[in-house]
Amino acid sequence: MTPPVTAEVAPPQEAVGPLIRGLAVLRELAAADGRRSVGDLVRATGLARSTVDRVVSTLARTGYLRVEGRDAVLAPRLMELGNAYLSACRLPDLLGPLADSLADSLDESVSIAVPDQDGVRFAHQATRRRAMSLTFRIGDLLPAERGAPGALFAADWTGEDWERWHLRRAADPTDSGFPAVPPHGRADAAGSFERRTADAREQGWSADDQLIEPGLVAVAMPVRDSRGRPVCAVSVVSHTSRHSAESLREAVLPRLRETVGAMEAALSAGAEPAAPPAAGSAPAAWTRASKQELGPEFVESLARGLTVLTAFDQGHAELPLTAVAEATGLARATARRSLITLEHLDYVAHDGRLFRPTPRILELGFAHLSALTLPQITQPHLVELVGQVHESASMAVLSGDDIQYVARVPTVRIMSVNITVGTRFPAYATAMGRVLLSGLPAHERAERLARTELKPLTRHTVTSADRLAAILERAEREGYVLVDEELEEGLRSIAVPVHDRTGRVVAAVNVSTHASRSTAEHAREDLLPPLRATAARIEADMQIAGRYGRITPA
Ligand code: PHB
Repeated sequence: MTPPVTAEVAPPQEAVGPLIRGLAVLRELAAADGRRSVGDLVRATGLARSTVDRVVSTLARTGYLRVEGRDAVLAPRLMELGNAYLSACRLPDLLGPLADSLADSLDESVSIAVPDQDGVRFAHQATRRRAMSLTFRIGDLLPAERGAPGALFAADWTGEDWERWHLRRAADPTDSGFPAVPPHGRADAAGSFERRTADAREQGWSADDQLIEPGLVAVAMPVRDSRGRPVCAVSVVSHTSRHSAESLREAVLPRLRETVGAMEAALSAGAEPAAPPAAGSAPAAWTRASKQELGPEFVESLARGLTVLTAFDQGHAELPLTAVAEATGLARATARRSLITLEHLDYVAHDGRLFRPTPRILELGFAHLSALTLPQITQPHLVELVGQVHESASMAVLSGDDIQYVARVPTVRIMSVNITVGTRFPAYATAMGRVLLSGLPAHERAERLARTELKPLTRHTVTSADRLAAILERAEREGYVLVDEELEEGLRSIAVPVHDRTGRVVAAVNVSTHASRSTAEHAREDLLPPLRATAARIEADMQIAGRYGRITPA
């Protein structure tokens, strides 16, 4: 949410109205942690109901949100906009690994944050939070005066920047425009800000002594580009149970300094511009086809305007208008009006002929979506699957020698036990378990088979280790497992793997049915294709959500 600062500047004449309205809806959804009824969106944005309806159906078509009953819900696909910014600025790619190893060597959290007007936005987190403190997500925004990085950035502020800060402080003294921070720290953050900024300018580092919340302490240094401008700040974050602000600085400053040196070297080594984006017509063709199919319910100019942001992906820190038009397949005039609109809203900035995406793009739901767990990403896809096949569907992960359910959408109950999230079964006797075992490295799989006692749970349970080994090999080859009445009489289950970005099997999804209702052949023909499509949709979400964040397994 943008803090209320000054009176809103009227959009330029060439601005694309539907793009402005679509982004307003996305911001309201992001501020409501990803879910809001269409009625509430109408009230919050002041837009007409029919306008919000069209925005919602357009964004549903682009995969940026889902409609669940009366609610619009942000979807992981939306993160492709934030990913484009993060890829363009290259900070997580170039500096993230250095931040991670600093966190490892200090055993404290380390973050990378960038300036966003009079705020500070997180671009990378290497989290080692042990006790009692809140953790910021990628995309979260701090007021500059709360936390260590802000004073470093403010050291370069102009009179105009300070004026903006004073206006925002006067308009929002409780930081209500910054939902990621608690309303009051322990210290008077605003009162000491100008002094801390002067100190930061002189010392080259800045400390946070519980400016955000009691207990939270940090020390930060700026990382400068070849022209000496601070592009981001690296913070080491700890807790008063381990360090005072003073002792943290003494303990970590030398190594923080070293890391900053390595980061500045990485920035200048990685500075050569990426090759121009490949010319593409796919986005433009897709929006045209969607318009033809959906008619007035698809607002083409909104979809096209958002496409413009994705042109900066693959490390394109800045692009001229022509390259944006070529990468998206949009007419030059369309791309230009979209860029003008995005610039008006501060999602894009320009320097001469070159446009670049700004960190403000991350306010479009990135923080909320980056915190989704695998089961949360999965649940809506299971709901869709169950709507299609009218049988129960689940996701499970391996936990010791068991599988454990992490998501489930039941229809009628066909098991003697009631399966809920958390339910465990022996992996060897279940379809999801066999899928998960088949995804293990060969030696680990063999080890498990050797140590597991294969008890007959029904008269059909495979209890021969050799036969089970052959089943697992076949599962790996064929990419699915069907188990008939081996866990419980009358129960049939078919399961497929879910892979993470690196191709590792991290979970399995299944559909379970009554064995008497149809044949195993039917399960393969009718259930396997939609089940595979579901796994593919979950994997596509994980690709996007896991690019710059870590998806929590459960
Ligand atoms: C954080 O990364 O969580 C963080 C960074 C700087 C602060 C406080 C917390 O001053």
